[in-house]
Amino acid sequence: MDGHPNLREERPAYNPEIVAFCCNWCSYAGADLAGTTRLQYPTNVKIIRVMCSGRVDPAFVLKAFSLGADGVIIAGCHPSDCHYINGNEKTAIRGDFLSEFIEDAGIESQRFRVEWIAGSEGHKFADVVKQMVTELEALGPISEESAQ
Ligand code: FES
Repeated sequence: MDGHPNLREERPAYNPEIVAFCCNWCSYAGADLAGTTRLQYPTNVKIIRVMCSGRVDPAFVLKAFSLGADGVIIAGCHPSDCHYINGNEKTAIRGDFLSEFIEDAGIESQRFRVEWIAGSEGHKFADVVKQMVTELEALGPISEESAQ
């Protein structure tokens, strides 16, 4: 028993992966600002730039989960700041639908969020990512059955 290396198996560290769909005009600029101003935030996020948050088809979010994402963010311009008039209003409606759908599929609601992040809000982008990583670490990996 003493000194046997296999008695306590080491669990690999859980490093959640986040996919963030960021609109070109505000949220992507916010993410870029976080980087250029060297704000500290976890590197667990993969950013996908879209022209408008309204371009994010709900199927993209479900596909991200099915490909192994632990969390998904759709980030767009603040209400009334959308460069395509009302794309973010559509995002808000789809976001509510997606939250319910995801939960019904057995995926915790904390794994998906819609955020409004302006180009000047690099700190907000960093905070959202930090907060989500903390929540995902507490949840642990997504169950295999839920992600199918
Ligand atoms: Fe940013 Fe529409 S252009 S949400």
